[in-house]
Amino acid sequence: MTAIPRLGSMHDVKRFEAHLKALGHSIPLDEHLIAGAESPLAKPLVRGEIRIGNRITVQPMEGWDGTFDGRPTESTIRRWQRFGRSGGKLIWGGEAVAVLDEGRANPHQLVAAAHTRKDLAHLRAVLRTEHRQTAGSEDGLLIGLQLTHSGRFCRPNSDHRPVPRILHHHPILDRRMKLAADHPLLTDGEIERIIESFHRAAGIAWELGFDFVDVKHCHGYLGHEFLGAHTRDGRYGGSFENRTRFLREVVDGIRSSAPGLKLGVRLSAFDTIPFRPDPQSSTAEKLGPGIPEEHHDLLPYRWGFGIDPQRPTEPDLQETMQFIELLQKLGITLVNLTGGSPYYNPHVQRPALYPPSDGYMPPEDPLVGVARQMQHARAVKAQFPEMIFVGSGYSYLQEFLPHVAQAAIDSGWIDSVGLGRMVLTYPEQLWDTLEGAPIQRKRICRTFSDCTTAPRNGLPSGCYPLDSYYKDSEPAQRLKEIKTRSVAPSAAAP
Ligand SMILES: Cc1cc2nc3c(=O)[nH]c(=O)nc-3n(C[C@H](O)[C@H](O)[C@H](O)COP(=O)(O)O)c2cc1C
Repeated sequence: MTAIPRLGSMHDVKRFEAHLKALGHSIPLDEHLIAGAESPLAKPLVRGEIRIGNRITVQPMEGWDGTFDGRPTESTIRRWQRFGRSGGKLIWGGEAVAVLDEGRANPHQLVAAAHTRKDLAHLRAVLRTEHRQTAGSEDGLLIGLQLTHSGRFCRPNSDHRPVPRILHHHPILDRRMKLAADHPLLTDGEIERIIESFHRAAGIAWELGFDFVDVKHCHGYLGHEFLGAHTRDGRYGGSFENRTRFLREVVDGIRSSAPGLKLGVRLSAFDTIPFRPDPQSSTAEKLGPGIPEEHHDLLPYRWGFGIDPQRPTEPDLQETMQFIELLQKLGITLVNLTGGSPYYNPHVQRPALYPPSDGYMPPEDPLVGVARQMQHARAVKAQFPEMIFVGSGYSYLQEFLPHVAQAAIDSGWIDSVGLGRMVLTYPEQLWDTLEGAPIQRKRICRTFSDCTTAPRNGLPSGCYPLDSYYKDSEPAQRLKEIKTRSVAPSAAAP
């Protein structure tokens, strides 16, 4: 692949548009940004009882910085303050919060439990205070808590060892994770106890005043693995009905224990098979570009959701639409669309110019990844116009993010634009647009992936290249040493 042009060096919208066109993609794009109440980004979003004051969403962004007993630290509190400072009126969950200790993706993940109630309340309070300072009021502010069980990707203990809790065997992921053929599957009884822990956690969120909980179904974690559990026997696998039983049972229990609590679902709406660095072009110094794992003897492919079983490198939205229809029937209006997984195809889930240390060089211009997420979200939105959809994967757009966000809302591709990595470095980017303030280019996320490489190596997440809180920290020094030893390109590379 030829060198990927840097968006930071494309100073005007016309050049950016020409580049997109050359890639064969078209996404909405406004040349001129609109400030104030006339901006599409400032329009409130109202559906039934849900009222969201603007079109800016803060995506859940975990920091791998809680205490071993699942409570926030000073760094967590700072991150939630910055979520509030963004001016975004939809806070989609803050970050992944485990419903059980053993369901944590890392030993620093937050937990929703009796002993963390005060801490979760504090996170919500600091976010609200900061939000009032930016936006002037809390009018139309909707705050959720993302509830999760990490399933296959559990690493709950202080030794950071994986403790996979799987629903079915996966021919590629099992091999990668070195799981034995008889690695135990979660039993139906264990699943029932996990469902009860979702009910308990939602009850806590409700008592603390969170407006909604997200029953997470994305990125390879447990909820998402249920949707792809085609090969599992019994009540929770096989048919669509069985693969969505987890969702229905979680929702039923929450509805009876926390009747006023709203519900949302973050969904990996499409997927592709796991990728790995191309061994032909990987060297000791450099990762090769990502290529799909060998899968020709695995057809029809039965280990994913939103994938074409005959051509599993291609998405298939048929069951995705069926799932959204189910959400609609269950009275769930809030849906956050994402794709793939950071563990096995990060270029799909978080398009980036630089890979994390356990990743691969981009197999495509990351803009293609942005366009893919936007186009699939558009297709879903077109089929369910009355529901509320949040879009993901916009951070790679960098200085052009406001131009695309404004146009995407205006043209009805999506209802609200989610900010993920951009929130770590420049939470006010879209708020500055609304205020008519110039974009602060030095604060723009350039997708160096240190926010992923750090936690992959046991360090807290954060923007190490740009945020002085991390840049000047002791973990930054350790990260530098780790990166010098690993084959991943350094964030300082051009
Ligand atoms: C450091 C980091 C932490 C994340 N934490 C979460 C999380 O807790 N829950 C979740 O659903 N997604 C999480 N994500 C995914 C983001 O919410 C988002 O989908 C992804 O970064 C792509 O959006 P972006 O291009 O705006 O960054 C995380 C991503 C990163 C890089």
